Order: sequence, then C-alpha cells, then structure tokens
Amino acid sequence: MSDIDTMTSDWLSRIERAGDLQALEAERVAALGKQGAITGLLKTLGGMTPEERQVEGPRIHSLRERVLDAIAERKAVLEGAQLDRRLATETFDMSLPVSTGPQGSVHPVSQVMDELAEIFADLGFSVATGPEIEDDWHNFTALNIPESHPARAMHDTFYFPDQMSRGDGAEKKRMLLRTHTSPVQIRTMTSKAPPIYIIAPGRTYRSDSDATHTPMFHQVEGLVIDKGIHMGHLKWTLETFLKAYFERDDIVLRLRPSYFPFTEPSAEVDVGYTIQKGRRVLGGSEGWMELLGSGMVHPKVITACGLDPDEWQGSALGCGIDRLGMLKYGMDDL
Ligand code: DAH
Repeated sequence: MSDIDTMTSDWLSRIERAGDLQALEAERVAALGKQGAITGLLKTLGGMTPEERQVEGPRIHSLRERVLDAIAERKAVLEGAQLDRRLATETFDMSLPVSTGPQGSVHPVSQVMDELAEIFADLGFSVATGPEIEDDWHNFTALNIPESHPARAMHDTFYFPDQMSRGDGAEKKRMLLRTHTSPVQIRTMTSKAPPIYIIAPGRTYRSDSDATHTPMFHQVEGLVIDKGIHMGHLKWTLETFLKAYFERDDIVLRLRPSYFPFTEPSAEVDVGYTIQKGRRVLGGSEGWMELLGSGMVHPKVITACGLDPDEWQGSALGCGIDRLGMLKYGMDDL
C-alpha cells in the first residue's frame, strides 16, 4: 500500500518538475504510455485474487486519475507560460502606420491628363467635358464633316443601332461613340459665350486595334475662340505646352501643312528628336515624329455654333494622350 503512496508522490513531483511541454509529454509516456509504469501496474490487476483486486483496483485507478489530472494541470501552466513568452517578444502596435501591403499608383493616362490640365491652367485654359455617347451632328456635321464626307469612313465609327437614334425626320440624329474629342469644341461653343480657352481630355472610340491602336483610347482637344486669333498664337501655345510637358527647353516643332475638315489652314505638328545610343531622344531635329493635329477653326464650324466668324476666330488642337504618355514614360505597346 505504501508503495502506491510513494509512487503517487514520485509521479506528482516528476510532473511538477517538467520544465516544458516536451518534458511533460515524456513523463506522460513514462507513466501512462503502452510500456508506462502505471499502465504496467494496471496490468497486474488481472493476476490478482478478487479480494486483492477489490482493495488494489481503486488505489491503482486513483493513482492513474491523480497523475492524469496533474499532467493536465501542468500542461495548462506550461502552455500559459509559453503564450506569455511569445506575447512578450511579439509586440504588435496597432497604432503604427502600415509599412507593407498593396500599393496603388496613378494610371499613366490619368497622370498625363493631370499634367495637361496643370500646364494649360497656367496658360489660362480651363477643362471642359462632353458625352462619350454622341450624336453624329456634334461628332461630324457641325465639324464640317457632312454625311457623304470620306472622313466619316476614316473614323471607323462605332454606331448605335438605328432604333436608338434621337429625334425625328430631318432632325433625326444617329448615335455613336465619339471618335474624337472635337465634338467638345461644338458643345462648348454652343453653350458658352466667347472668349473660350479650354482643353477637353477624355475617352474616344474607334473600331481599330493593334500594338499602337486600341478601340478605346484617349485624346485631348484644345480650343481657343477670341478676337484676332492667328497661327502665331497657336504655334506659341504648342511650343510652350510641349516644352512644359516633356520638361525640355530644346524641344523643336515642325508645322506641316495638312488637312482637317474643321480647321483651315491645318497643320500637323511633328516633334524633333536626336538619336543617342541607338535610341530616339526628344529634343533637337535629326528626325521628326508626328505628334498632333491643329489649325485655325474653320469659319463653317464657327457659324454652325451660331457665332459670327468675322467677329470670332479660333485655333484648335487634337492630340492622342496615350501617345503622349508612351513618349514621355518610354512605353512602346499600348
Ligand atoms: N479630331 C482629330 C482626330 O481625331 C484631331 C484634330 C486635328 C483635332 C486637328 C483638332 C485639330 O482640334 O485642329 O483625328
């Protein structure tokens, strides 16, 4: 009997001395595992007489119970200590700013649009907008591109089905996705009294796609309507804008005679480059790349907007924003 009492206090103190969870598990196996001391003791019950078993059975079972309880208690203590140690080392300050994680940035097209708005704001231009779903009068007719004009075919227009046209009879207007930002010229001139100094950046659509064309792309329109406006103003505006945009004073422009139905005269604007280490670098005039279209607003366009072309003159420009972004930020595929 006193053997079992000694065993009990032995096991309880061994369990109490277990310094960590691993040591405690070793004691559990030594006492209660398949080959464990207490398991061995339980096995002796089978060889006892019923009388012996009646006395020894409860004592051995109570030894087993006390050891099991002691292990569970010690385990809780050791786990608690382990958690405390971890909490002490792993400090976590919820008030600190986030140092890693997803980081966003402005899309190059949005960035170019912001830069343009800023540069032109310094020249006294404000930003105007117009709808992307347009009617053919604003997108074409008022811009001196009548129904039969070949330029309509050149624009690869996305038209809406005929039943979505607006108005009736001679007033009927076919709806389309605007093919350029030029209809904002019309919307501005018909809603606002001159003088007008605006740029209109935005989305434009044509049924066209390859490495340098996408069905949805971006343009910026520039429009000046005032008294006594001539090509000299346009040229100065273009030079000032492009030097500010490309952040170089050595930008050289070439105005090439061209044709647009809504400007007369019209000029295509090329920007000069030099070749450095096999790469084209803007500035200088070793070669030229085409950048934008411009010209003096056609008197017919001014008349279509209800203004007197003898009183008001204007200049306009239209430029692909995606192309501006590709040139400045060195991307060669849309
Ligand atoms: N709207 C023309 C296009 O998409 C670009 C353009 C050329 C706009 C000359 C203008 C301009 O305002 O004067 O091809």
